Amino acid sequence: MRRATVDPMTTTGPSPRPAVPKDSLLVLGIETSCDETAASVVARDALGRGRILSNVVRSQFDMHKIYGGVVPEIAARAHGDCLDHIISAAMAEAGIAYSDLDAVAAASGPGLIGGLIVGAVSGKALALAAGKPFLAINHLEAHALTAGLTDGIKPPYLMLLVSGGHTQLLLVEGVGRYRRLGTTIDDALGEAFDKTAKLLGLPMPGGPNVETQARAGDSKRFKLPRPMLGRPEPHFSFAGLKTAVRHAAKAAAPLDPQDVADLCASFEAAVTDTVCDRVAVAMGLVSDVLPPGPQRALVVAGGVAANTALRTALQTLCAARGFVLLAPPLGLCTDNGAMIAWAGAERLALGLTDGLNAPVRPRWPLDPAASPAIGAGVKA
Ligand code: KG4
Ligand code: ZN
Repeated sequence: MRRATVDPMTTTGPSPRPAVPKDSLLVLGIETSCDETAASVVARDALGRGRILSNVVRSQFDMHKIYGGVVPEIAARAHGDCLDHIISAAMAEAGIAYSDLDAVAAASGPGLIGGLIVGAVSGKALALAAGKPFLAINHLEAHALTAGLTDGIKPPYLMLLVSGGHTQLLLVEGVGRYRRLGTTIDDALGEAFDKTAKLLGLPMPGGPNVETQARAGDSKRFKLPRPMLGRPEPHFSFAGLKTAVRHAAKAAAPLDPQDVADLCASFEAAVTDTVCDRVAVAMGLVSDVLPPGPQRALVVAGGVAANTALRTALQTLCAARGFVLLAPPLGLCTDNGAMIAWAGAERLALGLTDGLNAPVRPRWPLDPAASPAIGAGVKA
């Protein structure tokens, strides 16, 4: 069988660390829902504090970039090729044996079904062989709980998830309890960045390249719409904005480098205004549940949380509204195994485990009771 090289994987590297308290839960987490193959071991002590013992991530970026997006079949095969290496590396870096684990957790949705099957089946096989419980983790729940691992924050808090596949505002009420306040009715924010990059001829990864261009651009040159601005429900829409960029680019063609920079800056400004407006509405909706004080937090996660203009604007908004802005370090904002292991540890601490017949779920809303956003397509 052909084996993929594991060279491009990143790890936190061995580092001297204090002994893990004896009463800690040790959980192996596996992430394969999109184009990152990742595994991690996390410890959760009796006080609910987390520590990452290993965190190994292998990005498939180079395999997909010539196609301009993630190809599900290639992604699933690449996960299958290297997941066992990634898991072995995570266990070795943590310096523990499978018998030391308290559970094995695997992302079981939402995501690309081929990759989810690879991760979940591997997790179940390891759990069965080691005689440990299995945890089927909702990938969105893992993003939502990561700030508990990195910043020690406990729910309730407000959460903005902005990635290539998701754009949601959530009230995190507790482990397993989420109120979806807002969602996108069309494209995810990262998708809008990526499509904008593509139509301006910028290479993948779109978001960071748009950001780099925007630094040299005039954000006021092109008048772009601020979709959903002022609407009472904090939903999002980015498809129209992307189309407006296309029209503006067509009108200004042929584009010179300054035109591209100005379009990127104008797009980024429109996105920032829109997101801050939507977050402000959500803050108003949860003001009674989140009393003023150091615990009143907005947590941001997902790849787009790396965008400096967006972070700066959110920081200003939070300061004005009495919120603390928490953004986990970028490597833990984007897809990784530690967030899956941590969500698993949080669930295990509550006695929540899953059977080996737990399904994988390409669609798995965090708040199934949320009513569909008006005008929403399949992604809401
Ligand atoms: O969370 P993530 O790494 O992967 C998933 O979508 O699961 O997010 C990737 C998305 C991509 O759309 C990428 O273009 C966007 O995050 N992104 C950014 C930046 N860095 C990554 N968007 C805007 N500015 C950035 N600096
Ligand atoms: Zn994700």
